[in-house]
Amino acid sequence: MQLRPATADDLPFLIQMLLEAYNWDGTPSFDEERLRSDDHAVRYVDAWPRANDFGVVAEIDGERAGAAWARALTADRPGYGYVADDVPELSLGVSPEFRRRGVARALLAELIAQARAASYRQLSLSVDPGNVARKLYESFGFRKVGVNGTSDTMILDLQPDSTSG
Ligand SMILES: CC(C)(COP(=O)(O)OP(=O)(O)OC[C@H]1O[C@@H](n2cnc3c(N)ncnc32)[C@H](O)[C@@H]1OP(=O)(O)O)[C@@H](O)C(=O)NCCC(=O)NCCS
Repeated sequence: MQLRPATADDLPFLIQMLLEAYNWDGTPSFDEERLRSDDHAVRYVDAWPRANDFGVVAEIDGERAGAAWARALTADRPGYGYVADDVPELSLGVSPEFRRRGVARALLAELIAQARAASYRQLSLSVDPGNVARKLYESFGFRKVGVNGTSDTMILDLQPDSTSG
């Protein structure tokens, strides 16, 4: 597996991965047309990449396997996992044929490193309580801070651990 920064050329793939996230429970409720016309869903990808966006793509044998990216949405046009204008919200998806091989874990580790390098204090996300991704997020230290609709909002603190060293 190879990891590399997500670029403008990855937009179609990010849309595919966003669809995986929207259809996480296997019900194909969103297709690309609906996603592009849904004002809320499109916020995670429109005009990608904007100035402060960052993300990572995993490739296996030269094929895109998954992606994680983050965008600081604002209060006037928030994401489902919005907590503050200066806290980017992450999106994550792995193509079905590449799952259960550690791709998401590798993507998330790299995205967190990118967020730290950019000096963000926190990352946020929105996840359904029944999604297997939740365990993954918890293993990285994300904690639930609220509920939006049926999904949990989680955040990860990125400041150096004051209890260490
Ligand atoms: C959730 C998702 C990103 C996981 O990708 P993945 O590459 O298969 O995950 P990994 O192999 O890195 O596994 C990481 C951890 O996730 C959890 N996990 C992933 N798939 C799981 C499954 N089918 N059943 C139970 N736990 C699972 C486990 O805790 C796993 O850790 P472990 O391997 O030590 O048990 C992938 O299933 C996906 O794209 N789902 C649809 C999109 C989505 O839901 N995105 C998140 C929206 S919030």
